[in-house]
Amino acid sequence: MRIILDESIRKRKGKLGVNKIVFITGADRGLGFALVKDFLDRGYSVCAGQFMAEWKELDALKKIYKENLFLVPLDVSDLDSINQAYELVSGKVEKIDILINNAGISGSAGDIMCLENVERGLRIFQTNCLGPLAVVNTFLPLMLKEDAYKRLCFITSEAGSISVCHREDGFIYPMSKSGLNMTVKLLFEQLRGKGFTFRLYNPGWMKSYMSGKKSTVGKIEPEESSKVAINYFVNDLIHEDVLKVYDNNRMVWPF
Ligand SMILES: NC(=O)c1ccc[n+]([C@@H]2O[C@H](COP(=O)([O-])OP(=O)(O)OC[C@H]3O[C@@H](n4cnc5c(N)ncnc54)[C@H](OP(=O)(O)O)[C@@H]3O)[C@@H](O)[C@H]2O)c1
Repeated sequence: MRIILDESIRKRKGKLGVNKIVFITGADRGLGFALVKDFLDRGYSVCAGQFMAEWKELDALKKIYKENLFLVPLDVSDLDSINQAYELVSGKVEKIDILINNAGISGSAGDIMCLENVERGLRIFQTNCLGPLAVVNTFLPLMLKEDAYKRLCFITSEAGSISVCHREDGFIYPMSKSGLNMTVKLLFEQLRGKGFTFRLYNPGWMKSYMSGKKSTVGKIEPEESSKVAINYFVNDLIHEDVLKVYDNNRMVWPF
């Protein structure tokens, strides 16, 4: 069954309004789940990438929002999974207006010897850096539709900024987010001529689930960061021809 959109809204151009279609990766919990709720509350239709079949919050939300929420199994580190997700989503919706690459995993602190865990390092890179590129590449046909809004959003981190990094260890996670920033810069150069606009968001230090359980440390809840993110993602900027990172305090964050 397709997500039903009002035809007059489907044809509307210009400012991003409700009843547009958003796709969010890593939507089970943390920032991704908060974004799903906020977009649904604002009347958007949401395709939510579900990575943790055992985590039931998305299923509970589906009971409330019914046709406006479409749950899609998705592991962004797995090309087959991305292709299967594309098949499912393209059978359900005719376009995607906003794609939010949120899924991410962390590495552990440690000295350079943490590189001995090559398997884990590759997985972090696949999830945080190559995954978003593969998701964009695969979902491009749905975003290139004539009336699609063509907004690409990415969740980066303070850890990815080379110029302000004061960390001394935990190599792979910061490297993966710097790599993501460069990925987005290259996509920006390649796709803005086709009408795409870009959002790179540093969500701040959140009390989310990156350690595997709900964090008690951190400065903000994912729900607070989501409230800032959603405005950044849906509103137009005066200068869409410059790529910048904004953080949860609405400040420009250096690359
Ligand atoms: N938390 C922070 O302070 C912070 C700071 C800066 C940036 N960020 C970034 O913010 C984004 C959201 O993180 P969060 O803090 O909300 O983390 P979170 O609570 O762990 O949520 C991320 C979700 O993505 C899922 N996921 C993991 N690997 C995946 C994969 N291969 N494919 C699809 N989904 C996958 C996670 O599942 P599992 O729980 O099973 O891994 C989890 O459900 C990430 O990109 C992160 O790097 C977070």
